[in-house]
Amino acid sequence: MDLYIDQRRLQMEIDALAGYSSEPAPVVTRVVYSLADREARGYVKGLFREAGLMVREDGIGNTFARWLGSDPELAAVGTGSHIDAIPNAGKYDGVVGVLGGLEAIRALQRDGFQPRRSIELLLFTAEEPTRFGIGCLGSRMLSGTLTVKAAERLRDAEGATLDELRGMAGLLGSLDSVALPVGHYSQFVELHIEQGPMLEREGLSIGVLESIAAPAAVNISIEGEGGHAGTVLMPDRRDAFLAAAELALAIESLAKHSGGADTVATIGKCDVFPGAVNSIPSRVKITLDLRDTDGEGRDAVLHAVFGAADGVAARRGVKIDCELLNADDPAACGEEIVRAATAACEKHRVPFRTMVSRAYHDSLFMARISPMGMIFIPCRKGVSHRPDEYSSPEQIATGVLVLAETLAALAGAA
Ligand code: GLV
Ligand code: MN
Ligand code: MN
Repeated sequence: MDLYIDQRRLQMEIDALAGYSSEPAPVVTRVVYSLADREARGYVKGLFREAGLMVREDGIGNTFARWLGSDPELAAVGTGSHIDAIPNAGKYDGVVGVLGGLEAIRALQRDGFQPRRSIELLLFTAEEPTRFGIGCLGSRMLSGTLTVKAAERLRDAEGATLDELRGMAGLLGSLDSVALPVGHYSQFVELHIEQGPMLEREGLSIGVLESIAAPAAVNISIEGEGGHAGTVLMPDRRDAFLAAAELALAIESLAKHSGGADTVATIGKCDVFPGAVNSIPSRVKITLDLRDTDGEGRDAVLHAVFGAADGVAARRGVKIDCELLNADDPAACGEEIVRAATAACEKHRVPFRTMVSRAYHDSLFMARISPMGMIFIPCRKGVSHRPDEYSSPEQIATGVLVLAETLAALAGAA
């Protein structure tokens, strides 16, 4: 096999997809089921069909594009990622795994390769937690991790339900048929930008993943007492924002002193009610994103956070309610995928290393129904979730080449 990766065409498609955004360039904001997301899906599905793939969509919009193998009864090899983008994001997170996955398939097709197992390219719905607070919605449901009942309870910030929002996006299929059985895929492999600085720092072109860290998310609501900013004296206050601030600093300290170098805690949202200059905050909602490569270490910090919340509540006379949205186990990558990706790097003399992912990905949940693996490419200065996120066309093409070789090895030749 002497694969040619059309990096110019792929870059044009990445640039075109970035145009489907609810904010002007260079910002990409594409929240699930927004107009930008719906139009972007239309564009991508058109590209899937142009490549002769059979396209199917499930009830929440996970999209499957299948290249039929010579033995279609065999479990397929899966690849893919997401195209939703958090507010004020860039063009590459997720997209490289979807459009790069497509280019990997086209490169194999151009070379005359005929797979024995079908190769299925996936576009997962809502890997980002922006709309519903929970990440990897599509892959969680697809892997049976999130039940239909739990999904039906999801609401966005405006109170709209998943059913209402997917209906408006024209997705009317039953949610009961979203979960796929174990064995549907023989292997699943995702191409993604690293979102961290290691590969660039070490001058490497590829990271072959060995595991994905364990994420958790908590919604924290604090209720104190509002009042006039001039007339209520300090000893008489039960300020919900100051309670949130004290809890936030306690969480920072717990993460820093967890005993593990990989514990990270982020409070990325803070809504203050009533949000007036001269009014004491009576209610505050903050979000906690907590992760660790060690699941037990993460859980220990999580419990300590709940304890810290009780302490702050008692000291400040406020009510603190912690709603655990998810606390997922870490996942180890399948050996066969690690071997295939490593062999692809060696064959093409691509400098690589093995590594862990501290970001989460849909593959974390695919691991529950299939062996999974991931291939990382460097991104400039490790920057991600920002408009200046960047990987060069050459870096992306190398990732696509390694992905294509890996898919070919896993699917086998007809
Ligand atoms: C994925 O976007 C993550 O937050 O790790
Ligand atoms: Mn992301
Ligand atoms: Mn991503």
